[in-house]
Amino acid sequence: MQLVFATNNSNKIKEVQALIPDHIKLLSLEAIGCYEDIPETQNTIEGNAIQKATYIKEKYGYDCFADDTGLEVEVLNGQPGVFSARYAGEQRSAEDNMTKLLMEMQNKTNRNAQFKTVVALHLNNKQYTFTGICEGEIIENKQGGNGFGYDPIFKPKGFKETFAEMELSLKNKIGHRGKAISQLVGLLNSKN
Ligand code: IMP
Repeated sequence: MQLVFATNNSNKIKEVQALIPDHIKLLSLEAIGCYEDIPETQNTIEGNAIQKATYIKEKYGYDCFADDTGLEVEVLNGQPGVFSARYAGEQRSAEDNMTKLLMEMQNKTNRNAQFKTVVALHLNNKQYTFTGICEGEIIENKQGGNGFGYDPIFKPKGFKETFAEMELSLKNKIGHRGKAISQLVGLLNSKN
């Protein structure tokens, strides 16, 4: 089976590749000749995931899936949420985003936050969505060099290290994207 993963984020591809069984061949956007920015203009995480997967299905004709992820901080009423990528501006810089969030969180005692990933799948003319959540807290200073995005400032519940201090296999096991992708794999396996 061939399936397009509608992302240009090499970190996401690395994470997802490690979770997808060998009999499913993941195709990149490059592999299908897609070099454009996929629109992401909805105001929910789920809406953006569906928009990206649907765009590829309709324009390129491939069965595909897309993910969208947001970091929801309790004391900020769920922000940055769907705006996580552009939190500090259109430059979409992970460093700037983390710096802004740490500033907003200065002197805040409630540090609860969660990552939420929605994966949208188009398969055999049906659409599915899968949600993965990972609860944790925003720490006060960046720690660790692995991963990407907000990983250095997010410590998952029950762990002493941030996502950026973990091996990929552990992040995948307990993390938001891993949980959503596991459900996707379950569905794909049930169709085989
Ligand atoms: P998107 O899903 O690519 O739109 O990601 C939204 C924002 O969340 C971007 O700033 C990403 O860097 C960040 N992000 C997505 N997934 C993760 C993750 O697993 N860890 C940390 N940050 C992430």
